[in-house]
Amino acid sequence: MANRKLGRGVALVGAGMSGFGVFPRLSSRDLFVQAYLEMLGTVDKGISPADIEAVFIGNFSSELFEGQGHTAPIMTEWVGLTPRPSTRIENACASGGAAIRQAILAIASGMHDVVLVGGIEKMTSLPTERVTDALTTAGDVLYEIPAGFTFPGFYAAMATAYMARHGASAEALMQVTIKNHDNGSLNPKAQFGTRISDIIASKKAAAEQKGKPVPDWADERAFLSDERANPSIAWPLRLFDCSPISDGSAALLLVAEDRAKSYSAAPLYITGSGQSSDAALHSRSDFTSIGAARRAAAEAYAMAGITPSDVGVAEVHDCFTIAEIIATEDLGFFEAGEGHKAVIEGCTRRDAVRPVNSSGGLKSKGHPVGASGVGQVVEIWKQLRGEAGRRQVPGGPALGLTHNVGGTGQTCVVHVFERRS
Ligand code: COA
Repeated sequence: MANRKLGRGVALVGAGMSGFGVFPRLSSRDLFVQAYLEMLGTVDKGISPADIEAVFIGNFSSELFEGQGHTAPIMTEWVGLTPRPSTRIENACASGGAAIRQAILAIASGMHDVVLVGGIEKMTSLPTERVTDALTTAGDVLYEIPAGFTFPGFYAAMATAYMARHGASAEALMQVTIKNHDNGSLNPKAQFGTRISDIIASKKAAAEQKGKPVPDWADERAFLSDERANPSIAWPLRLFDCSPISDGSAALLLVAEDRAKSYSAAPLYITGSGQSSDAALHSRSDFTSIGAARRAAAEAYAMAGITPSDVGVAEVHDCFTIAEIIATEDLGFFEAGEGHKAVIEGCTRRDAVRPVNSSGGLKSKGHPVGASGVGQVVEIWKQLRGEAGRRQVPGGPALGLTHNVGGTGQTCVVHVFERRS
């Protein structure tokens, strides 16, 4: 892999998102308009929409979820930007990250100076079974899906392989859940903005009110170990190990570096971008690591001239709890086989040495698949500018990272963001 630099620098000058959750009354168009308007309001010195030259939209499957293809020009029309060139990028759950990368390349090439990136998915109009079927099209439908795999099943296979090789226990998975729900409880945009301890309290109160036996969970671990409260989805993954089915949208404004200060008092600079692909899971020899993530991270770190220990805050792709643990190793935060110990020791908490998923992650914030990679950047924008409110990572991190995975790791996109002022 060549150690390449961008042809010219790219900066982030605005970032916004809709809520992530279940919104029966809102279409993907409505959600994108919300994200776009919030993004416009974050551009410190203002932006005239007339300045926006091109649009890239991350979207996994508006056809299967909403019966609507050709999403990019429709979203562009709904925010009044027709006839700008508008392109949809589909790379499964990494569609958002891949759309960001295409926008970066469009600016670095000199083709455009000001580019809008959107991410959008509206999943909850379908019942769970049909969402599951739609998501499986991101696997290999020739070899994997006829064998009965679903996405919880794929990541369960990765979890069992990881546990067998490294001696990890269910405790590590639970700690990811507890941490991400803690963080999500401080994020007003999160689908599950509730701590596990609060869920326990409300379930106990509901039982008491209905005159039913009150469950005797002593703590979060007891609740998460209870098959009735936290049923198995695909062993060893339970309900609270899974990201939910979500609606949501996010939007970013990327500009050429030399234009950044005319839009923003505190732009972020995108100093590293890496993307890699891999074979489908069935033909990979190792289920305990995602090769595309290691390669994408290496490319992004080399471009940015940094090492993993420089990263002050990271949003990683925790579609399932095991995925967060593997991500922290693939990104070089911990050695292979050490990630499960690190989460138990609290190393990835918001106030610890390596804060991971301060937003609540996909697990708690929600996972509208095509929007998730763009939503990750909204969190890094807030954290690096000191605007994350009650979930602000202490010490004001200056360097942030996003890690967005498609499918079981057939795609991974990593970006590095830097605050210079
Ligand atoms: N985590 C925690 N709670 C969840 C949840 C999740 N992921 N998904 C649903 N719930 C809660 C609901 O809020 C509801 O709670 P309530 O009874 O207190 O109101 C309850 O569980 C049942 O919700 P329901 O929507 O009927 O669940 P479901 O069984 O249909 O779906 C999953 C649960 C795990 C199967 C579904 O969320 C799923 O498929 N997630 C994975 C999505 C995925 O694969 N994404 C791509 C990753 S690569």
